[in-house]
Amino acid sequence: MIIPRSPQPDVEVAIRAATSYLAGYDLGYGHGTLEAVDDATWLVLEAVGISPLAPLQAHELGQTLNNELIDKIEEWLQKRALKRMPAAYIVGRTWFAGLEIKVDERVLIPRSPFAEFVLQDCFGLLDTEKMERVLDLCTGSGCIALAAAVAFPDATVDGCDISADALALARENVSHHQLEQRVNLVQSDLFTALDSRYDLILTNPPYVDRFDMENMPAEFAHEPELGLAAGEDGLDIVRKILIQCPDYLKPGGALVCEVGNSAEALQQRFAGWPFTWLEFEQGGAGIFFIEREDIIASAAGPG
Ligand SMILES: C[S@@+](CC[C@H](N)C(=O)[O-])C[C@H]1O[C@@H](n2cnc3c(N)ncnc32)[C@H](O)[C@@H]1O
Repeated sequence: MIIPRSPQPDVEVAIRAATSYLAGYDLGYGHGTLEAVDDATWLVLEAVGISPLAPLQAHELGQTLNNELIDKIEEWLQKRALKRMPAAYIVGRTWFAGLEIKVDERVLIPRSPFAEFVLQDCFGLLDTEKMERVLDLCTGSGCIALAAAVAFPDATVDGCDISADALALARENVSHHQLEQRVNLVQSDLFTALDSRYDLILTNPPYVDRFDMENMPAEFAHEPELGLAAGEDGLDIVRKILIQCPDYLKPGGALVCEVGNSAEALQQRFAGWPFTWLEFEQGGAGIFFIEREDIIASAAGPG
């Protein structure tokens, strides 16, 4: 028994009991939450049907739980602690740039700092009012494509992924936000099935190197390996994107690419390339910005 059943517990008691239960395990965080109390609160509120986004009201904390609800919460807590399943997969959704995104084990759980970049007018690096065509390469759940479509209301956005399973879920997300008119999903191995030129390519591709793949917390094993692993130095996919993307960018267009912990390897391999590394107020790092003409000049240059 994780949550005491007598006297009948309320939401506050359930969150406290759930927090001490989860804190007793050496869990990995990194899918949008930081510690046991975050996951405990999220799981309890979702089970009860209270939005985890709004500030909790006193009457919600005092809501009592029946045995059926307690059973459900305990089952979810065990999935989190014993199966090491991230909370977002357990409840089936998360939020990205303020948008609800459905998730399951077909897609990575959205957590990219791209949300802040898109919400903050691309940090002033681009004229977002002139944005007509945007590509979200390696779209997974579709989260970045959807955030871009909302942020740039005059643009059409293509989201592409090699995984048919990921695209099936992305399609549900596009339809949930009623953005079918402006977000097109395409199955493609990087650029192979694409024939357009874009003002902006956003991409959070697989970039985890072999060492990190072998040493990540067990929670990450629930995510599709295809979304994470990118060879010895983490650059197998990014290398191809950098070389191929000028053919898919309009003159004056730009690539914004997440490489996470593989930033150091990238800077060594592409020494001298004028990457602008973005700085985020909400946390996160490892995303660079580079203009098409700089890629072409750097690729043609010495080395
Ligand atoms: C790190 S996940 C990013 C998902 C989503 N954009 C996000 O930020 O949550 C990378 C995605 O790239 C896809 N992928 C892997 N190799 C690919 C390839 N060669 N071409 C297109 N997509 C690929 C995976 O299926 C996965 O959905």
